[in-house]
Amino acid sequence: MATIGKDISKAKTLLEQGQLVGIPTETVYGLAGNALNPDAVAMIFATKNRPDFDPLILHTSAMERVHDFVNEIPFPLDLLASKFWPGPLTLLLPKKEIVPDLVTSGLDTVAVRVPSHSLTNELLSELAFPLAAPSANPFGYISPTKASHVNDQLGNKIAYILDGGDCEVGLESTIVGLEEGEVTVYRLGGLDLNAIREVVGEVKVMTHSSSNPKSPGMLKSHYSPTKPFILGKLEDLVLEYSTKGIPFAILSFHQKFSSLDQSKQIQLSRTKDLNEAAKNLFAAMRALDTMDVSVILSELLPEEGLGRAINDRLRRAAVQ
Ligand code: TXA
Ligand code: MG
Repeated sequence: MATIGKDISKAKTLLEQGQLVGIPTETVYGLAGNALNPDAVAMIFATKNRPDFDPLILHTSAMERVHDFVNEIPFPLDLLASKFWPGPLTLLLPKKEIVPDLVTSGLDTVAVRVPSHSLTNELLSELAFPLAAPSANPFGYISPTKASHVNDQLGNKIAYILDGGDCEVGLESTIVGLEEGEVTVYRLGGLDLNAIREVVGEVKVMTHSSSNPKSPGMLKSHYSPTKPFILGKLEDLVLEYSTKGIPFAILSFHQKFSSLDQSKQIQLSRTKDLNEAAKNLFAAMRALDTMDVSVILSELLPEEGLGRAINDRLRRAAVQ
């Protein structure tokens, strides 16, 4: 298994040697390698079992350094960058030659973000190169929000995981680009749509296509537990599966079923707080996936604030 610790200089040395390191961010943990080293980037794809048509996000320590890798940050994406970096925002920008084609899967845009996490930002500011970092999970599975999640699934393939505690936001970054001059959201995520609208006005949301070449990673089935994940009205689902005699676990927004086994139920936020629900979502999905049951029953949350991105993940988890 990997070593888990808070040793930034150890992470730095490994990355400089071309190796991969698990890193914490405010959204989810990333599987990081030197973005300018094609061998390290190839190792990221191999380690995650990720198809090479699904491009990676480049992480750097400050907005000024982004200009080393992109030709420009066109208006009004520059307003979003100034307002939300460091933070859970990824921008699709015209790439410079220096970014290897492997990072962008041959696209002429590169996804860039300045994350917000003290350990990782310190690491990034000490490195001479940016980090390519997809979420540190096997392709298609639930993203990790704790160092132990990374170790459970990739610990036998990487040497070191930088432990930054539980991810504060708990959902991947929101991906935004320009399409024919229109601000377009390609992945709902940890930065709420309303916050984006407040800066740039109306935006186009293009996240639902399963074959959207602009964001090839947004496959319809994604973030999936191994067990069947069923969405609906929980009371109805509980009745149906009890009647059928099929053992189930429950992932609810805040509701507790007091007549059922408490150890097979997780509430995302007892106080109905959508930010808390986002923070708890992936750890809850992982915990339910290891329970001794045949199916996971769940429900959609209110379609507002981070509820939109949470529902996006729940719907994708429910696609078989
Ligand atoms: O919060 C996050 O964004 C996390 C942390 C580690 O930073 N990273 C993450 O990376 O979620 P990943 O690889 O799991 O998801 C990146 C998404 C994929 O859906 C990919 O298709 C899309 O970004 N993407 C990357 N480059 C792109 C590009 N040039 N054009 C369109 N989509 C792109
Ligand atoms: Mg991912």
